[in-house]
Amino acid sequence: MGRKFLVALGGAALALSLAACSGGGAGSGGDTSSDKPSDLTIGVSMPTQTSERWIADGNAVKSKLEAKGYKVDLQYAGDDIPTQSQQVDQMITQGADVLVIAAIDGTALNSQLQAAAAAKIPVISYDRLIRGSKDVDFYVSFDNYKVGVAQGTALLVGLGLLNKDGSKGTAKGPLNVELFAGSLDDNNTQYFFNGAMDTLKPFVEDGTLIVKSKQTTPEQVATLRWQQETAQKRMENLLTSAYNDGSKVDGVLSPYDGISRGIITALQNAGYGKGAKKLPVVTGQDAEIASIKLINDGVQNSTVFKDTRLLAEQAVNAAEAFLQKKQPQANDTETYNNGVKVVPSYLLPIATVYKDDIKATLIDSGYWTAEEVAAGQAKK
Ligand code: BGC
Repeated sequence: MGRKFLVALGGAALALSLAACSGGGAGSGGDTSSDKPSDLTIGVSMPTQTSERWIADGNAVKSKLEAKGYKVDLQYAGDDIPTQSQQVDQMITQGADVLVIAAIDGTALNSQLQAAAAAKIPVISYDRLIRGSKDVDFYVSFDNYKVGVAQGTALLVGLGLLNKDGSKGTAKGPLNVELFAGSLDDNNTQYFFNGAMDTLKPFVEDGTLIVKSKQTTPEQVATLRWQQETAQKRMENLLTSAYNDGSKVDGVLSPYDGISRGIITALQNAGYGKGAKKLPVVTGQDAEIASIKLINDGVQNSTVFKDTRLLAEQAVNAAEAFLQKKQPQANDTETYNNGVKVVPSYLLPIATVYKDDIKATLIDSGYWTAEEVAAGQAKK
């Protein structure tokens, strides 16, 4: 047993070390470096199980830590902020030695982080940066701005305005596009949206792309909690408000596969994808199996693949470094300012997946099997 803490309730701002226990146990701020892995617990807080990627992330972090002998307390918060706060509070009171947190709302865990800091528990922000707190010790994620660039580029390639090699395509505008962004409380949303908009901007400015709804600000295009149904409703509203004059949508910027599927359902319900009314080009993210099937079937244009196995590995490396009282290795110490400090980060590369890339990028790497792609469903 590494340590035991009692955390004062009511915001959990105060952590008191009650029993710094024997056996090299850490106690408050004690040294875990000589503890056996089996004496150490890593609390892993994930946002939701409604999206495949977080299930894969949670499982991968847990199994990699357990393979090294550590104990793992993995919790999912059902996309509910108070639930996540409570779960993290509990991990602290139960004596977690490191916390790995993918926050629902990047600003909602401040009192938990204060409690963790008071108890000298290192906090690793997982994929989504926790904002407004000095008590975030490390960040593992992907290059989130590049995700947005990849989505904007995929939209342009799908529309024929660019070729995959970046050269000018043969299509001529004007083409109608609509824009979707993720949840505004997720720090990643701004990176995805900015990356995409920086890429699309010249085409909007010269009139090649027209956002017919005129909804272009992050507030107008955001999707609370990244929900598929919310995106479907907004697409339905866009179709009835901006496209009731016989005009057609040619492309939709979507930041996440679940949102893409909501958009596609709305379009199909409105008659797109039948006869001459072609489905627009729809982008995505996460390589969710249902979307990979849609890409394979020519329904969704593309997705951005972020290998959660590699992310889990980086989280495990960082956790282990902290437990051994070392600093995890960062490869970016400039980009991720959380409003209070720049959080040292390890950022992983991303890959755009069009239909032609499914085999090499996803099947050959063992992320999905050919059967899963054909079925559009994960086996496990
Ligand atoms: C992640 C994306 C994911 C989205 C919705 C973001 O924070 O970076 O991979 O699509 O959350 O779950």
